[in-house]
Amino acid sequence: MKKDLLSVYDLEKAAFDEIFERARSLKKMLRYGEPHTPLRGKTLGMIFEKSSTRTRLSFEVGMYHLGGMAIFLSISDIQLGRGETVADTARVMSVYLDGILLRTFSQELVDEFAGHATVPVINGLTDLLHPCQILSDLFTIIEKRESYEGPKIAYIGDGNNVANSWINAAAKLPFQLTLACPAGYDPDETILERGMKEGNVALYRNPSEAAKDADVVYTDVWASMGQEDEHEQRVEAFKDYQVNDALVSYAKDDVIVMHCLPAHRGEEITDEVIDSPRSVVVEQAENRLHVQKAIMEMLMAS
Ligand code: CP
Ligand code: NVA
Repeated sequence: MKKDLLSVYDLEKAAFDEIFERARSLKKMLRYGEPHTPLRGKTLGMIFEKSSTRTRLSFEVGMYHLGGMAIFLSISDIQLGRGETVADTARVMSVYLDGILLRTFSQELVDEFAGHATVPVINGLTDLLHPCQILSDLFTIIEKRESYEGPKIAYIGDGNNVANSWINAAAKLPFQLTLACPAGYDPDETILERGMKEGNVALYRNPSEAAKDADVVYTDVWASMGQEDEHEQRVEAFKDYQVNDALVSYAKDDVIVMHCLPAHRGEEITDEVIDSPRSVVVEQAENRLHVQKAIMEMLMAS
C-alpha cells in the first residue's frame, strides 16, 4: 500500500527514527561525494499554491541528488486552478508521477488529494500543518542536542501550522513543548487538546514562563501566508511575544534559537538574536534538504 506524509501525527516513533537515521546517512554521503541514486527514473510533481524558497528547493534539489527529477507546478498554471476536480487531478497525476508534493491552503484538499492519488502524497504546508518542517527541525535538534528525548522546546508566537505540527510531534515523541501565544491566536483546539493529553505540552500566555529554562526557543512569523491583510492587527497583538535578548535570557545558557524562515526581522525576532551564535536557522534550512531526501526515499523508493 502506498504511504503518504500528511501529518507527523500519522507517524510512530520508529518512523521518526528511521527518517532521522536516513537523513544522517544521506547528509554524510553528500558530504563525502558518494553518489546515491535510489530514485533513478522517478518523478515528483510539486503543486504550489503558495510561495516557497526552502521547500521547493529542498525537494527539487533532493530529487536531483537521488537520481530522479521534480516538476514544479504552480496551481495557476494547471487545470486544478481552473476548477478541474481534486479527484480527477490526483488520479491523472498519479499516472505520470511517482510522488506528489502539495503546498496549499486547505488541509482537507491535501487529505482528499491523497485519498484519490495512487502514488505517495507529501504535505508541503497547509494553513493547518507543516510536517516536513518539524521533521527537519527535530533532526537539527538531535544534531545539536544529541537526542530529542528530554529537551524543553519553547514555541513563542502564533498558534499556526508550524505550532500545530510541533504539538503533533510532541504527542508522539518524549520532549517537553511549551507554547506562548496571545489570547485569540492559540493553536488548533483539537490538536492542542490531543497534544496535552498524549504528550508533554503546555500553553502559556506569558512568553517568559514558556521560555524559562528552555533548550530551544522557536518562533515563526506573526502573519502567515494568506493572512497578509491581518498584518497590522497581528503586530499589535503579538508585540509582547518577540524573541529578543530579554526573552532568550530566560532560557538555558546554551539555548539554541530556531526559526523555520522566512523571518520578519524586527517583528517576531530581532536581528541580534537571529544573527547571534545561538541561532541555528541556516543549518535548520540546510537540513530540510537531507530530511526531505530521507522522506522521499522512504516513500518513493521500491
Ligand atoms: N520554511 C519553509 O517552508 O520555507 P519556504 O516557505 O521558503 O518553503
Ligand atoms: N507559518 C508560516 C510558515 C512558512 C514556512 C506560513 O504559513 O506562512
